[in-house]
Amino acid sequence: MGIFTYDPGFVSTAACESGITYIDGDKGILLHRGYPIEQLAEKSDYLEVCYLLLNGELPSPQQKAEFVNIVMNHTMVHEQITYFFRGFRRDAHPMAIMVACVGALSAFYHDSLDISDPHHREVCAFRLIAKMPTLAAMCYKYSIGQPFMYPRNNLAYAENFLHMMFGTPCSDSKPNPVLAKAMDRIFMLHADHEQNASTSTVRLAGSSGANPFACIASGIAALWGPAHGGANEAVLSMLQEIGDESRIPEFIKRAKDPDDSFRLMGFGHRVYHNFDPRATVMKASCDEVLKELGKSDDPLLKIARQLEQIALKDDYFIKRKLYPNVDFYSGIILNAIGIPTNMFTVIFAVARTIGWISHWSEFHSSPNRIGRPRQLYTGVKQRDY
Ligand code: CMC
Repeated sequence: MGIFTYDPGFVSTAACESGITYIDGDKGILLHRGYPIEQLAEKSDYLEVCYLLLNGELPSPQQKAEFVNIVMNHTMVHEQITYFFRGFRRDAHPMAIMVACVGALSAFYHDSLDISDPHHREVCAFRLIAKMPTLAAMCYKYSIGQPFMYPRNNLAYAENFLHMMFGTPCSDSKPNPVLAKAMDRIFMLHADHEQNASTSTVRLAGSSGANPFACIASGIAALWGPAHGGANEAVLSMLQEIGDESRIPEFIKRAKDPDDSFRLMGFGHRVYHNFDPRATVMKASCDEVLKELGKSDDPLLKIARQLEQIALKDDYFIKRKLYPNVDFYSGIILNAIGIPTNMFTVIFAVARTIGWISHWSEFHSSPNRIGRPRQLYTGVKQRDY
């Protein structure tokens, strides 16, 4: 038997080489193709970052216009997909529906599933980036019994998403630009984060040659858990459960208790041992949104701010270098926009699709082999039947 390195949780094992995203967790640095996330958040927008992640360079104005045009022209889903929805309970968790519907997309695009063909890979990427918001909004509309809204391709990506979420056939109002910008930022800040659990899942599934829709469905499944993408939903539930600033010490005490499984949701990160740079941008965006909506006194925001202050001064959190992560403030923004809690992780999935597909594409663009981790066997020795 060979000798293997045992690294539970892959704390010190690099599974691949990648030129997409760089993180220095000790310094709190996040770069996409070399560009700091703070600069992208200030100067760019989500679809431009999609282009950057996928192609390695920022687009020229003409390249950007073409890219936006192609993506927006793929936003509609096949009408047969609506029958999938009708098979689900109205109260189904939207992540369950997303896993199913995204995997099922491969049944509609036999024409572009030759993953050895770069053009096919590109078309799949366009389709996935374009159709994820449509499917996400369909989950919400289905849950509240309203008709599905067709995408409006003359709107910007985030605007169109808000239109499909909150528009009705009886109104043609345009989404509030401040909220659309905040939505775009949420998409951008979640676009990629190197080899996290869901991206690693997509790469591993992709290494077997599985089609990209199936691979992205596996990423959505991995994202669902509360230790990963489910954290934004968990943060809001936690803030609601705390309910009042006076109860914060009680929850901090619980988070520090080794015999209590409770953790401060939205705090801590496997890679960042400093401020998560995305959290800083998200916090500023949160202030903008609440101001726009006249909710600057939002009780949940007050609890979140107070909780952050107390935790950052507490020895337990200082010693373990636990800081707020990207999800600490995103839930408050989404809640203020009117997005229900069970849709938060779906929005993370919409945003992360570009990261997943960029890594999947990178994997297939270079020499590769199937991923096949080994194990340390701890079972019984050979015995006779
Ligand atoms: N609250 C209280 N204690 C914590 C927390 C927390 N949120 N996070 C970590 N710790 C403690 C943990 O108990 C352990 O203490 P000790 O050394 O005494 O046993 C120490 O810090 C190290 O924790 P760990 O579990 O070994 O760290 P990890 O790198 O395996 O886990 C994490 C990272 C993000 C899963 C974890 O910090 C956590 O559960 N955070 C809350 C959930 C959350 O916000 N997740 C979103 C992550 S960001 C979005 C994404 O990338 O998906």
